[in-house]
Amino acid sequence: MRNDLVGTGAGEMTYEIRNIVNVAEKLQKHGVKINWENIGDPIMKGENIPVWMKEIVVRETMNDETWGYCHTRGVLETREFVCELTNRRGGAQITPDDIIFFNGLGDAIAKVYGCLSPETRILFPSPTYTTHTLGEAMHANAAPICYRLKPDENWLPDLEDMENYVRFNPQISGIMLINPDNPTGMVYPPETLERIVAIARKYDQFIIADEVYNHIIYNGQKTVPISDLIGNVPAVAMKGISKEFPWPGARCGWVEVYNYGKDRRFDRYINTILTAKMNEVCSTTLPQKAIPAIMTHPGYQGYLQERLNRYELMSNITYNYLQGLPGLMVNRTNGAFYMAVAFREGLLNHTQSLPIGNPEVRDLVEGLVNTQGVTPDKRFVYYLLAHTGICVVPLSSFSTPLQGFRVTLLEKDKGECERVYKTLAEKIGEYLES
Ligand SMILES: Cc1ncc(COP(=O)(O)O)c(C=O)c1O
Repeated sequence: MRNDLVGTGAGEMTYEIRNIVNVAEKLQKHGVKINWENIGDPIMKGENIPVWMKEIVVRETMNDETWGYCHTRGVLETREFVCELTNRRGGAQITPDDIIFFNGLGDAIAKVYGCLSPETRILFPSPTYTTHTLGEAMHANAAPICYRLKPDENWLPDLEDMENYVRFNPQISGIMLINPDNPTGMVYPPETLERIVAIARKYDQFIIADEVYNHIIYNGQKTVPISDLIGNVPAVAMKGISKEFPWPGARCGWVEVYNYGKDRRFDRYINTILTAKMNEVCSTTLPQKAIPAIMTHPGYQGYLQERLNRYELMSNITYNYLQGLPGLMVNRTNGAFYMAVAFREGLLNHTQSLPIGNPEVRDLVEGLVNTQGVTPDKRFVYYLLAHTGICVVPLSSFSTPLQGFRVTLLEKDKGECERVYKTLAEKIGEYLES
């Protein structure tokens, strides 16, 4: 090629949440039985979709309109419906024109960062869900800029760190947060959100709030969507059905824009996102059409509650096995379906291991962990995978220097959940002492 086709650094960015699956699949071929505790897809973990929900979708497929393109912003009745859900809370007031549907939040994320000028930077939590940081960093062709979530304080954000980044980096124009959070399972208390909005107001920032898990909260926790507290600060909230229905295969999510019309630069930015969507015509019509009927179905709240009860149970089983292990920073999760666990600094090294009986599997893992640049937590994760079949994701792949791992809380069987986390707790001890 006459020119470099990708920017410097782009090649080094990997999406470890999926990458680990490739490794696990190789081990599977060698007979290792895998426990997939790595991926946030409830369907893959055996969630049964209620028949009434499927019937709504079937009914929509019989409607010819569902087969056509829809408005670039999304199906009007559905936008009116989700708009009303926000407006009735009494916070930010929006119209259907403040809503844009996307083919999953993955699509929204690509456009939201892709439409920024490359010099404009967004400040992210660390650790964070890497689709956000990767999307922005690839666009800016530079490493992500992150504020700290505190592993020894329930993963709450370090607001001083946040404010300092914004204050001393004039290219930062937006603050991003995920509530409830992936990968930590932390739920933002309303006072913390208020303080973030105050920082945004003080430094003329806009806010991006990923609220895809906004109804997946348990352990009696309370939070509010950012729309309740946003006041006059420009913001976008991201919402979707991948986790809540759950229907990740629908590829359907939406962005709500708060305070359009109050800042010329923000308005131009939102118009650019809309133009990018227009260039693609629109998002898939079918799942949008099904949203109002599913969300207002008499079985909906009960089904969601039953799942929340299950996530709460699995979260507490996981917490009880891991908390108290020497050297680990473990926090009870209160939302989403992930738990991030960090090792105290210096605990992991490049000589620790777990025994692997099968010589082919051992060779494969040793080849992987002895590659240059492999982080100590990746080494731990690969040995754990080969020794026990338990597949988790290294924490360092979530845009953080912390070493640890992330697990999902989607196991449906209580006994299996107990077995997996009892084993994990034992193997952590063995690994650290090896
Ligand atoms: C915080 C967060 N945002 C967005 C997404 C992606 O959502 P979608 O399936 O709508 O692309 C995920 C998926 O795991 C997520 O955890």
